[in-house]
Amino acid sequence: MRGKNATERVPADAGGIARAARILHEGGLVAVPTETVYGLAARADNPAAIARIYEAKGRPSFNPLIVHVAGIAAAQRLARLDEAALALAERYWPGPLTLVCPLRSDAGLAPAVTAGLPTVALRQPAHPAMAALLGAVQFPLAAPSANRSGFVSPTSAEHVLATLDGRIDLVLDGGECANGLESTIVAVRSDGRIETLRPGPIEVPGAVAVGPAEGIEAPGQTLSHYAPGKPVRLDAVVREADEYLIGFGEIAGDCSLSEAGDLLQAAARLYACLHRAALAPQPRIAVAPVPTKGLGLAINDRLHRAAAPM
Ligand code: TXA
Ligand code: MG
Repeated sequence: MRGKNATERVPADAGGIARAARILHEGGLVAVPTETVYGLAARADNPAAIARIYEAKGRPSFNPLIVHVAGIAAAQRLARLDEAALALAERYWPGPLTLVCPLRSDAGLAPAVTAGLPTVALRQPAHPAMAALLGAVQFPLAAPSANRSGFVSPTSAEHVLATLDGRIDLVLDGGECANGLESTIVAVRSDGRIETLRPGPIEVPGAVAVGPAEGIEAPGQTLSHYAPGKPVRLDAVVREADEYLIGFGEIAGDCSLSEAGDLLQAAARLYACLHRAALAPQPRIAVAPVPTKGLGLAINDRLHRAAAPM
């Protein structure tokens, strides 16, 4: 079934979710919409299923995966959530916040999920399709973004199929993702410090940003990532002749992150614009400046990775 045939695509309705649950139970791979980006899900307690994620994505095996859970109780069966972590989960779950917490020795996760780290990254997603799927299966779901490693993250079923068609069993089509940017990842340290390992839709008050250089614990935070496969020039005010321009606010382009200069809309459209730019005839991409405050910090984080040499 896997690898040879085209990937099946079904609507994320009750029938689709039942089919997805069956495939996952048997150790298969299903792309599932979440409120951030589409995830490539496999059962987190099954080493063979997890090996398939790494194989389908072409992901370096030292890069650990986020485990998606149905709620706080399910998270506590996998990790030790101290008071601070519990408070964050209660405040922001279900939603786009991933918590890195100490792994329990009896968690029963496939070792490759955590890539040998003593911690595990956990989140309870808010998207109704992913929530229904987690309710339908009896195991947690490991799910990185559903794209070949290093490429632009998917915010639609088309984006998933652009790099993973034939490499995975099923795509649950739930339309476009609302947030459009991967979850905020924070680590809760034993001394109470909260470190932001990856900026995202949620800004956690009091969290300290940890740059990629110090982020040894998040190897996925290597500089070149989200790459559209062409040179990307940032903070562009005018387009050069051979460039596809992604606009923002006053700066109109071939497409725009947000004509109104709205950061929420820009986050939701970012990956769709990068996908479009990748498919355009122009050999290079330019991107208008996006303010570096609030959600703009997370958008600029992804843009800098898209622009980093591969
Ligand atoms: O919004 C999201 O988070 C999406 C959806 C599908 O949930 N998932 C996602 O997964 O972005 P992925 O695999 O593309 O990114 C996971 C990030 C990587 O940067 C990885 O290094 C980091 O999480 N990570 C995973 N486990 C970790 C751990 N124990 N400690 C630190 N970082 C960890
Ligand atoms: Mg990713």
